[in-house]
Amino acid sequence: MAEETLVVLKRREMSEPWSFQTFVDSGGYQAIRKAVTEMTPEEVIKLVQDSGLRGRGGAGMGTGLKWSLIPKDSPKARYVVCNGDEGEPGAFHDRELMETDPHALIEGMLCAAYAIGARHCFIYCRGEFILARDRLAKAIQEAYDNNYLGENIMGTTFSCDMVLHRGAGAYICGEETALLESLEGYRGMPRPRPPFPVTEGLYASPTVVNNVQSLQAAGQVILNGAEWYRRWGTEKSPGTLVCSVSGAVNNPRNVEVPLGTSVADVLELCGGVDDRGLKAFAPGGWSTPMLPPDKLDATMDYEGMVAAGSVLGASSIIAVPNDMCIVRAVWRGSKFYSHESCGKCTPCREGTYWVERILEDIEHGRADERDLERLEAVNNGMSGFKSLCALAEFAAGPVGSSIVHFREEYEEHIRLKACPHQMQAVAS
Ligand SMILES: Cc1cc2nc3c(=O)[nH]c(=O)nc-3n(C[C@H](O)[C@H](O)[C@H](O)COP(=O)(O)O)c2cc1C
Ligand code: SF4
Repeated sequence: MAEETLVVLKRREMSEPWSFQTFVDSGGYQAIRKAVTEMTPEEVIKLVQDSGLRGRGGAGMGTGLKWSLIPKDSPKARYVVCNGDEGEPGAFHDRELMETDPHALIEGMLCAAYAIGARHCFIYCRGEFILARDRLAKAIQEAYDNNYLGENIMGTTFSCDMVLHRGAGAYICGEETALLESLEGYRGMPRPRPPFPVTEGLYASPTVVNNVQSLQAAGQVILNGAEWYRRWGTEKSPGTLVCSVSGAVNNPRNVEVPLGTSVADVLELCGGVDDRGLKAFAPGGWSTPMLPPDKLDATMDYEGMVAAGSVLGASSIIAVPNDMCIVRAVWRGSKFYSHESCGKCTPCREGTYWVERILEDIEHGRADERDLERLEAVNNGMSGFKSLCALAEFAAGPVGSSIVHFREEYEEHIRLKACPHQMQAVAS
């Protein structure tokens, strides 16, 4: 039986883990103290690189590698931006991390700021996360009051300010360049790349954008060392990972496990699959290709998920119950992407619109075989990273994978000219 390994969630069971006192009493702000008083910025970056920590925002880029790409000779200001927008359907770990341990996020950002030479940090927190916002705001004030933010932190020459910014509820603002646009006060739409944020990010200046969990884990790595972090996980995906688990399980929640833990073990930590049984699961949030139950042995790490035919994404397992109509579930998801597409790229703007309409027709018994072909054609037009950002790819994932694994359900809707699940519900 797998066990939880609490690294970034280690204060979860403590009394008022969000308070300054609890944080300091449990070793808080020792990582930034160590970095600033014992290490050069280059040593901090190398340590994070040696740990193998990879970004938890989805793409899995090395966190230390990203920090190392900030140009050393740029005369411009540098910035650290935390991506706390967490809009992926099924994901709720960053929310818990910000609510539970806001000082750990501040400390992780301070470490990043010291490493890249940034004077200003920004937290972009999803607008709906009221509790996270309140606790982060209080924590930032406490950090200023105790000289962990502001001028000459802990009596050293290192100075750093932090701004908390609330998003306004757009999924696309989790995409890092749309987030930067939004932070600058513009409509949240992705920017063409290159240039990448590390060279031209916030206010066209070198910027590190990191996920909440990446930054909190970086603080732990700096305090405890690279080898300590590599005790967990796999060679290419070291460390621990917080997985959000929802859907057909007995105890939906966030669990922290070593990377490389099987999906089956993660579900077991959530009380196992509930009475409804498991029809399929999306391993990294709804935007990641769904897998059938015979892939439960797939492991929650970057390589393991690709080998199984999906991606780790936001490490948020949605267990689809047996009694759920796949067409209906995918149609409902498609409404989300169609609504959240920023409209800048034709394949995404038009594709998400038409996919939603065709799925609606199939679900309501208004489609024929040619509509299924059309659905596949339009969906293929969105996948393959042909657009400015990955939202089009995310939208295509659930549709394409559901047709691969549940084609007969689509065909049954077309044959019956109705949803079999709805017919059953009416009959009983
Ligand atoms: C549509 C879309 C939504 C995204 N939403 C988030 C998000 O909510 N949180 C996040 O950290 N990354 C999100 N990302 C990934 C970010 O663009 C970026 O890769 C990440 O914040 C980098 O942090 P990391 O290097 O620590 O992983 C999203 C990407 C896309 C395309
Ligand atoms: S892929 Fe979609 S969401 Fe991303 S920039 Fe293009 S239109 Fe906007």
